[in-house]
Amino acid sequence: MRRAIVRGTGHYLPERVVENSWFEDKLDTSDEWIRARTGIERRHFAAEEQRTSDLGILAGRAALENAGLSADQLDAVIVATSTPDLTFPSVATMVQAGLGMRRGFAYDIQAVCAGFVYALANADAMIRAGLAERVLVIGAETFSRIMDWTDRGTCVLFGDGAGAVVLEAAEAEGASSDRGILATDLNSDGQYRDLLYVDGGVASTGTAGHLRMQGNLVFRHAVEKLADTAHHALDKGGLGPEDVDWLVPHQANLRIIEATAKRMQLPMDKVVLTVADHGNTSAASIPLALSVANAQGRIKPGQVLVAEAIGGGLAWGAVVLRW
Ligand code: UT7
Repeated sequence: MRRAIVRGTGHYLPERVVENSWFEDKLDTSDEWIRARTGIERRHFAAEEQRTSDLGILAGRAALENAGLSADQLDAVIVATSTPDLTFPSVATMVQAGLGMRRGFAYDIQAVCAGFVYALANADAMIRAGLAERVLVIGAETFSRIMDWTDRGTCVLFGDGAGAVVLEAAEAEGASSDRGILATDLNSDGQYRDLLYVDGGVASTGTAGHLRMQGNLVFRHAVEKLADTAHHALDKGGLGPEDVDWLVPHQANLRIIEATAKRMQLPMDKVVLTVADHGNTSAASIPLALSVANAQGRIKPGQVLVAEAIGGGLAWGAVVLRW
């Protein structure tokens, strides 16, 4: 059978770093509260002229370099984002052009913070079905553009950035010892739309709108659903929590990550953490964490990784892969 294996990773973070203390004279908040309740210490914000596609192009270029490939060796580009440059065309086609790729196809996936997990599952299915040999999967976001800067419950949480992974087809046995994506688990439940949404859009207000969240309710769903989806994905892959070398969680809140690791009976030294330095970068958070950990040489060939995320929709899911 065919599997989608990871050939390379890359990321890009905008130059501007904003520490928690930056919010203190603007809002009734403190560095202490933000650290204690979220684990976030700082985040990156894109420059005024930088768009989501610019971040995606830089992350994509870094992943191609890491993979030792050129853009015209790709068959497809998938970008997970909820903060596109324009209503259309897709960010993915802009990234395709920016990378100088003149063949293949490109499209966006919108599953908010779960977007990268959805995009990986999509690319995996494409590769296994023989529709593509090599797919560049990117999570890229500029959530700073949809913040309500007067809402202390949301604006301190999010940051901008992009991460990318090159997936490549490889022949495999069909066993849990194979390299590559072993299993995926996707879920959504639209009855929870009011817990996390943006209050604007093309067909409603004609504006981009601002992010609205009932944080404590999302928190409860996250703690319950993330460990469940991770367990389901492991089960589908013929593995158990004891086989996991690295949990690569969506970086929304350190307390959610700790609770998920605990429910999976994983020690925190098996968890990739970037939330302190990146904040919540929505669909970009998992590929950013993956790329940072890979660049640090922490992920070794043969190791088992579980990536999981939840966000607006609600939409959530997990991917299990062997490096
Ligand atoms: O990425 C998509 C998925 N999103 C998430 O996973 C986010 C999930 N939610 C969370 O991470 C947490 O719910 C938050 C970090 C957003 C909030 O933490 P919490 O422990 O759930 O606090 P809370 O919302 O229950 O609020 C506790 C108190 C409230 O004050 P009162 O009503 O008790 O007086 C808030 O108004 O904390 C207050 N608060 C703040 N205080 C200082 C909320 N935001 C802030 C702030 N600074 N920035």
